[in-house]
Amino acid sequence: MTTIEEANKLLQKECGVRDFFSCDSELLQIAEELNSTYAYVACESNAEYGDFQTNQKLANQVTEKLKNNGFSPQVVVEPTCGKGHFILSVLNTFAEVEKIFGIEIQKRHFWQAKFNVLDFYINNPDKKKPEIHIVNSNIFDYNYQTIKNSIGEKELLIIGNPPWVTNSELSAMDSKNLPQKSNFKQHKGLDAMTGKGNFDIAEYITIELLRNFGHNKGNMAFLVKNTVIKNIVYDIPRLKLPIANLKKQNIDAKKEFGVSVDAALFSCQLNQDTECYCQESNFYTSEIKCNFGWNNNKFMSVLSADNDIDGISPFVWRQGIKHDCSKVMELEYDGNSYCNKLGEHFSLEDKLVYPLLKSSDLKTTIANPTRKMTIVTQKFVGQDTSYIKQYPQTFEYLNNHIDLFQMRKSSIYKGKCNFSIFGIGDYSFKPYKIAISGLYKTFHFCLVKPQNNKPVMLDDTCYFIGFDTLEQAEYIWNLLNTDIVENLLKSISFSDAKRMITKDILMRIDLKKLAKIKGDKTCFWDNIEKCQKSQLSLFN
Ligand SMILES: C[S@@+](CC[C@H](N)C(=O)[O-])C[C@H]1O[C@@H](n2cnc3c(N)ncnc32)[C@H](O)[C@@H]1O
Repeated sequence: MTTIEEANKLLQKECGVRDFFSCDSELLQIAEELNSTYAYVACESNAEYGDFQTNQKLANQVTEKLKNNGFSPQVVVEPTCGKGHFILSVLNTFAEVEKIFGIEIQKRHFWQAKFNVLDFYINNPDKKKPEIHIVNSNIFDYNYQTIKNSIGEKELLIIGNPPWVTNSELSAMDSKNLPQKSNFKQHKGLDAMTGKGNFDIAEYITIELLRNFGHNKGNMAFLVKNTVIKNIVYDIPRLKLPIANLKKQNIDAKKEFGVSVDAALFSCQLNQDTECYCQESNFYTSEIKCNFGWNNNKFMSVLSADNDIDGISPFVWRQGIKHDCSKVMELEYDGNSYCNKLGEHFSLEDKLVYPLLKSSDLKTTIANPTRKMTIVTQKFVGQDTSYIKQYPQTFEYLNNHIDLFQMRKSSIYKGKCNFSIFGIGDYSFKPYKIAISGLYKTFHFCLVKPQNNKPVMLDDTCYFIGFDTLEQAEYIWNLLNTDIVENLLKSISFSDAKRMITKDILMRIDLKKLAKIKGDKTCFWDNIEKCQKSQLSLFN
């Protein structure tokens, strides 16, 4: 019978992998199961692990590119190594490597990675064998100290393809595959609970590695979603990351991974004076597209474009109503009764029912009359909703569907009144609005007028500013639909983002400056400042 020490010694000699088996029982179990017909471990859920293994050809292309750029690492870290394709490419490409560390949470991949390395050396017995540590561990619990102790002055390469999954997707799956610091981006209040609190696990892992190894000599090269790269570049000044020579080389994720997302190879040099911009190019052709990132304290999607009106909006742009209960809250009216998305027909008092526009309704220059309606249960966030009793039909309808309201997953509704909504305030009831969709890849602003003497509401995929008079709205609407605004938006928005237009982007349009450029109507600003104090960001 072979002892574990003997087996491990032999395997280390053959393929460089340290501690191939951790205990006797593991060795026996593997031996038994290799002889049996069933798989060694059951498959864990791929979605939970953001599991998109890099094909060997792509991994080889990445390491070849790095080599051609003069990289020659001595220590390599693959933080979520999967089946080890990057480790194999490293073994094939870099002769100077002395140590490799691979970490992987899924046992089946962890074993596959070790056997892949063994297989590699069976086929390439004369290749140099570095010290290889493949560890079955959760990267969020992993202590980087062992790796740190190994690096010293050596050239480091952090390479890989961290999980493609977001914290909110994981929460929806009730998955525990999350870092403890779930608000690592340090957003406050509602931002932390909604859109802005959402982050890619890959972003967390990348930043953790840069925090831990940023001051080591070396490089990082990760395949990640474009949003992850954008967010990292955005956070460089805040996190004071010591990185430079940032590159984003776009890949075809559909071809490589069979998924329709925008992704790229992100690479950077560690231990440098911080650079806050990134060069974007094509991974396959090396054709350069642009530089994006920070310029004069402004974050731009295209750095070359300077724009005079990039400043602060004098108005507060608002997101439309958020209720997360469209089955009950989105209604149509056929002239006789209301109908909801559950196919139910019913009557309601008019009082709380308002016309509703969604992103798809904003394609026209002036919004068309809408057949969609919504129930506005609160006039401001947090309003006590018990007053709805005075509208018995509305109250009964909402109560009949209280279970659907209570099933809303987002934590913003926890502990709030029944039928609570967000994105509501005085501004929602302004009669004239200028709106834009956050979802569509256009820079076109739509004028929204009241319908049946009621202000029109927008859903939470839209952003808007509201006005008391048509004259005011038309004046601003004309300013917004000009080339200069379109150019600004093009240079500060990312076309591959889920929401190309966001409140942050709209808040950068300095309309007062634009008005000056276009031949100011000073009286307009005087009037509007008098009558719309609540609208102006100055007063918010
Ligand atoms: C996108 S795949 C890439 C795998 C490998 N890096 C490659 O390029 O082929 C992400 C890998 O991360 C692993 N993973 C997910 N969550 C992890 C965690 N918390 N700790 C370590 N590995 C994890 C998955 O099991 C999967 O193998």
